[in-house]
Amino acid sequence: MNTTKIALVTGANKGIGKEIARQLGQAGFTVLVGSRDLARGELAVKELVAEGIDAIRIQLEVTDEKSVRSAAEWIETAYGRLDVLVNNAAIIPAGDDAVSEVGIGVLREAFETNVLGLVSVTQAMLPLLSRAERARVVNMSTSLASFAQVGDPESRMSTVLTLGYNSSKAAVNMVTVMLANELRGTGILVNAADPGNCATDMGGWDAARTPEEGAAVAVRLATLGPDGPTGEVYAEEGRLLW
Ligand SMILES: NC(=O)c1ccc[n+]([C@@H]2O[C@H](COP(=O)([O-])OP(=O)(O)OC[C@H]3O[C@@H](n4cnc5c(N)ncnc54)[C@H](OP(=O)(O)O)[C@@H]3O)[C@@H](O)[C@H]2O)c1
Repeated sequence: MNTTKIALVTGANKGIGKEIARQLGQAGFTVLVGSRDLARGELAVKELVAEGIDAIRIQLEVTDEKSVRSAAEWIETAYGRLDVLVNNAAIIPAGDDAVSEVGIGVLREAFETNVLGLVSVTQAMLPLLSRAERARVVNMSTSLASFAQVGDPESRMSTVLTLGYNSSKAAVNMVTVMLANELRGTGILVNAADPGNCATDMGGWDAARTPEEGAAVAVRLATLGPDGPTGEVYAEEGRLLW
């Protein structure tokens, strides 16, 4: 049996996702680089393979159930299991805005990718994760989904007016807790990672943190030992409050 661990990272063709793929690859994983666009996925895989990483492109549009099913079938045929799932793909939809202003279609778009896509991928991968010895699921979250931080008028997080993004990521937090509860005792640990504000297309190129720094917390949660936590959210500085 092939003992190399297999990790799938969604939205891994750029940004923090690509860095998570890189760091998992450096840790010895075979990384499946999820990308909705084949050419963009291929570019990222070329870069990682040139660094000696065992990276493989996998077409994955998280809002397309057929794409999600095909990805799961491909992994099943190739490996028969999945050791790590990092649900990284997400958007801040164009036009995201304050509660009083945001278009309902914009909210729908945010939830379609950030929540329904994430749950759809997770459901499709669960049978494969349950065949791994100690699978890990990491959902990418954000301080903008934290009730503690957004609810604090002194916090910068209370000034960011993107209801679609914030509320869909708050839903991701609940998915994390509920899946962790469902899987308690199975050996599968499920946690959320807050990378902090990182310089990417989403985070803005003037952000203080690098994607490498942002990826590290997700990689730590993806490689937790058997006594690791489940149903919690972590940033670089440690456990956060929801
Ligand atoms: N950057 C930050 O400051 C920051 C802070 C807190 C949390 N986060 C979280 O960290 C994660 C990565 O963020 P990032 O800054 O690296 O974002 P990014 O640079 O915008 O990359 C997002 C990735 O998700 C993919 N994606 C978007 N919609 C998708 C879909 N429907 N199906 C499949 N893939 C899709 C994108 O693919 P395309 O290239 O095809 O668009 C891209 O690969 C996200 O979950 C984000 O919420 C980021």
